[in-house]
Amino acid sequence: MSGTRPIHESSSSFANLDEVRSSFPCLQQEIHGKPLVYLDSAATTQKPIQVLQALESFYQEDCSNVHRGVHTLSERATHRYEAVRTKVAELLNAPDPHGVIFTSGTTESINLVARTIGRTRVSAGDQVLISAMEHHANIVPWQMLCEEQGAQLEIIDCTDDGNLKLDDLQSRITDRTKVVSIGHVSNAVGTMHDIQKVISVAREKGAITMIDSAQAISHVPIDVEKLGCDFIAFSAHKMYGPTGTGVLWGRKELLDQMSPWQGGGDMIRTVTFEGSTFADVPWKFEAGTPHIAGVIGLGAAIDFIQDVGLESIRSHETQLLEAVVSKLDQIDGLTIIGRPENRVSAVSFVLDAIHPHDAGTIMDQQGVAIRAGHHCAMPLMNRFGVAATIRASFAIYNTLDEIDALVDGIKNVQEVFN
Ligand code: ALA
Repeated sequence: MSGTRPIHESSSSFANLDEVRSSFPCLQQEIHGKPLVYLDSAATTQKPIQVLQALESFYQEDCSNVHRGVHTLSERATHRYEAVRTKVAELLNAPDPHGVIFTSGTTESINLVARTIGRTRVSAGDQVLISAMEHHANIVPWQMLCEEQGAQLEIIDCTDDGNLKLDDLQSRITDRTKVVSIGHVSNAVGTMHDIQKVISVAREKGAITMIDSAQAISHVPIDVEKLGCDFIAFSAHKMYGPTGTGVLWGRKELLDQMSPWQGGGDMIRTVTFEGSTFADVPWKFEAGTPHIAGVIGLGAAIDFIQDVGLESIRSHETQLLEAVVSKLDQIDGLTIIGRPENRVSAVSFVLDAIHPHDAGTIMDQQGVAIRAGHHCAMPLMNRFGVAATIRASFAIYNTLDEIDALVDGIKNVQEVFN
């Protein structure tokens, strides 16, 4: 556990990089005898010590169930859990913490919306509008809904550069479009979409708007009041928090109208064999014992992000992205997939005649962790005419030196194959 790559702070826009990086225990190790270069944060970010300590302190000091006990441990657990709801609302500039629902992650959040308000709003002959750039989590739940309701899934195309075609949005949206659900940032190629524009076009048609912010939440500020969307989903594990925890934020007046989707403990007011009545929002959507430790860890992750500052994060990551694109452009036999106008976190590429999985396996031998595959975005891979790509993705702890390590890793792969 000794292989930390040196950090050239003078070449970084972020003065506290050394300190921030040292708070990530998992980064302080060697893989196959080489310092770990972790470039897979779009899959999941590493976790800072503050988050690990929050999880540990819950289990060591306050371990109890929430909302149920009158004893001190349960009161402490409930207080810590509910305090995160307020923290999430503040992060999103949401007017009411009761609009924050804890879920297992982005996927569950989108499924919740599709299976509740989706079922009541979308009928036979209606349309649900998504884009060609979505993660499977923002395709399949809508596809299932459309099949069930006899509705049509419509797709906004993207350009060869990986930008959304906003004129295609204008031409596809109709009075029958009941839901518009768009990824904020493409996990596969890193495009940050003009979701403000998408939301305003959708609202003019009276459609419900859902934003999948899984790949945006740890990189850019999100203000739901300003955006004017109806729902936002994200996962804790892509924002330095634990796996298995996430958020659905929804406009309170819509959540109040929606029926629960999972029944069980904690989501009811009364139960008899003749019927049940349900708790208020948000608890009516949180059936069963939630991931209490995960939510508390999410709170610590939000504190971490706010301590570092989203402006510093964005500016450091932008510097890394500009450097990596410029260096990758100089490598013969490498093609970058997607040239978005606004890039966040990720860059995808292919190497001539080398399968991404082979490249990834060889790079792992150099300690370089990238993701190779379709990135849960098979329709987008089809759109670009590739089966898979190599994706390098970045977070606050990455360094310019790690980009050099990536470049060395790619050149080594090419040498092995040549
Ligand atoms: N959605 C995650 C990714 O993009 C797993 O890698």
